[in-house]
Amino acid sequence: MIQDIDLSNLPKHVAVIMDGNGRWAKKQGALRIFGHHHGIKAVRETVEACVELGIGYLTLYTFSTENWNRPKAEVDGIMSLLVKTIGEEIPDLHKNNVKLKCIGDLSQLPAKAKKEMEDGVEKTKNNTGMVLNLALSYSGKWDILQAVKKIAAQYKTEEINLDDINEKLFDSHLATSPDPDVDLLIRTGGDHRISNYLLWQSAYAELLFMDDIFWPEFRKNHLFDAIKTYQQRERRFGKTGEQVKDKK
Ligand code: FPP
Repeated sequence: MIQDIDLSNLPKHVAVIMDGNGRWAKKQGALRIFGHHHGIKAVRETVEACVELGIGYLTLYTFSTENWNRPKAEVDGIMSLLVKTIGEEIPDLHKNNVKLKCIGDLSQLPAKAKKEMEDGVEKTKNNTGMVLNLALSYSGKWDILQAVKKIAAQYKTEEINLDDINEKLFDSHLATSPDPDVDLLIRTGGDHRISNYLLWQSAYAELLFMDDIFWPEFRKNHLFDAIKTYQQRERRFGKTGEQVKDKK
């Protein structure tokens, strides 16, 4: 229940690995793409729940670099679904003051999907509410490498020197910049791994594996439950429990 949530202790940045679409579809004797289609309702509920709570940043793992290796029919199906969904959802996102951003190697996307994304980003760019990042053709290693390349280029042109390279500078070159690090990382579907997601940004994220839920089943109350679990965790950031308690 939303009422049980302490609004003064919300995660600033929630990231989600939306897993289990294929297995959910198979369970109904349907094709995998059926699961992706039903995943859209879960996406909508998650966005709405985060907006209702006042979460600042939500990042959804929509398509990983590795997902390009899936059968062509499934990749094409997900790309068409993206084009359709972005087109349909933008008016509502805009109405809710959500700012859409896209992180990943967008040059890999089919022209139509890239255009739809760019239109959505442009339309919502002045919104001041929640930032919704869609990670598309994204991987954590890709993100780190593209940041390293930008820093190396700045070093080469002597824009920066070696001592300027620190966490803050590195952060500023990540695809998620200027968003804060991830506080809560949720994965549905039963697997316990990070799958090359926001590797740098999740360094101190609380990990929550919601094993009994396939992504198409995910609803607002699951998100609220996840926030409640997050609020029961003690975040120590390397300090002792006593130090953390004394500060309270
Ligand atoms: C993982 O489940 C899911 C994906 C790779 C695709 C997720 C995409 C969507 C839900 C569409 C999202 C659209 C927008 C606009 C955000 P899986 O296929 O790996 O499932 P499995 O582990 O059961 O095989």
